[in-house]
Amino acid sequence: MENKYEVVKALLKEQLLSSAIKPGEKLPSIRAATELWSCSKNTAIRAYQELEKEHLIYSVPKSGYYAVLRTSPSKQTAADWIDFSSASPDADVMPYKDFQHCLNRAIELYEDHLFSYSDPQGFFTLRRALEGHLANSQIFAPPSQICVVSGAQQALHVLASMPFPNGKAAVLVEQPSFQGMLRSLDLLGVTTLGIERTMDGIDLDELERHFRNNHIKFFYTVPRFHNPLGASYTQEQKMRIAKLAEKYDVYIVEDDYLADMDPDEKADPIYSYDQAGKVVYVKSFSKIMLPGLRLASVVLPTSLMETFRLFKASSDSSTAALSQAALELYLNCGMYDHHASLVRDRYRLRMQQLAECSKHLLPPQIDFRIGVGGIFARMSIPEEIDLHDLITSLYQQQVRVTSTEHNYLRTFRRENGLRISIIQTDSAKIEKGIQIVANTIEGLLEQKHTSRLQVIDWI
Ligand SMILES: Cc1ncc(COP(=O)(O)O)c(C=O)c1O
Repeated sequence: MENKYEVVKALLKEQLLSSAIKPGEKLPSIRAATELWSCSKNTAIRAYQELEKEHLIYSVPKSGYYAVLRTSPSKQTAADWIDFSSASPDADVMPYKDFQHCLNRAIELYEDHLFSYSDPQGFFTLRRALEGHLANSQIFAPPSQICVVSGAQQALHVLASMPFPNGKAAVLVEQPSFQGMLRSLDLLGVTTLGIERTMDGIDLDELERHFRNNHIKFFYTVPRFHNPLGASYTQEQKMRIAKLAEKYDVYIVEDDYLADMDPDEKADPIYSYDQAGKVVYVKSFSKIMLPGLRLASVVLPTSLMETFRLFKASSDSSTAALSQAALELYLNCGMYDHHASLVRDRYRLRMQQLAECSKHLLPPQIDFRIGVGGIFARMSIPEEIDLHDLITSLYQQQVRVTSTEHNYLRTFRRENGLRISIIQTDSAKIEKGIQIVANTIEGLLEQKHTSRLQVIDWI
């Protein structure tokens, strides 16, 4: 190595990779580094900048440099199980250490402000950070239009319960749809109508009929990486939904719970096509970060903000201040974007692996279309298979799956299906798990076939 900065960089890198410098730990200050390695200030700065470019460390303004790398071993307890059912982020990709650092810094910076009630709409400084963050996804809104909430679930519950300026009362949902929203609508006794959604989208003429003929307050949609389908709308479909909302004075509640996982940078949300202030945009931070923080943001048209604020404040007074302050630091120091790209790449590879294994291993009767990202895919199961038998048999072989039956309204025709989540898996588990699913389905189909032949024989 010719340059001194390369020597310093190599020494530090070795310490980071061997965990001699632990994740989240502060690195020596520039001044300390010059003394430690008998080098100039410029050499130390260059070495740190190079390590930052490799995402091994990150800088916190006015504080210094910190180690990013996570080296904790995967949880051994669940090693024998293949979990295709979980919606909670993989513990191995959760940014505990980095966030722990942000929590500590938040306490130092905000002191006692963190331990009293605060603005129900959220810290102004966090909303300002969110303004910049959301602008990267074509959501342009000032802090006055942004509300920080205790998870997307709270936003959905509040929106389902509050009156809207269009004076209408029913809610239209995709079928299937996110179970948490269906539960809120059910508990609140809201009249709920359904419209079928498939991997190709919805019938937009039917959507128009609903908007025209029914008393729809809002249409709840998960345009990107739908839960449980994993499907996304095309730009054209999103544009047309925004137009219909304007034409018929129906609001759209756009749940973008996996916004940062989209490899397609041009996939803009419905909100970006809204010319008439009809779209409410909800973005959760649970799937990229830590669901236990209970943090999400909502962008509301001005006409809805006052009522939303009132209903939200009545349910929690204010969102946890410590979580808010830590998220603000996490966004501002660039850690969020770095972590999001790491999670996006990891989950995308798993979805690719799922698509490849399924193509080779599943029997032809199984309809299993997989999106290009996200975390979920819906496997259609032939009606002749009893879903309960399938799930029980898989469980006995240590494979967990979830039925999609709770993703439907009671009044809507339910399709026999499983939601497959890759969030708690890895490449080996995906391959092994899909092989077990394939064998079990084939076994159950074979049983049905044999018992049918026996009946025919007997007749
Ligand atoms: C589509 C969808 N929306 C919202 C949520 C809830 O997110 P949060 O943890 O922010 O309440 C989930 C959780 O899985 C989800 O799948």
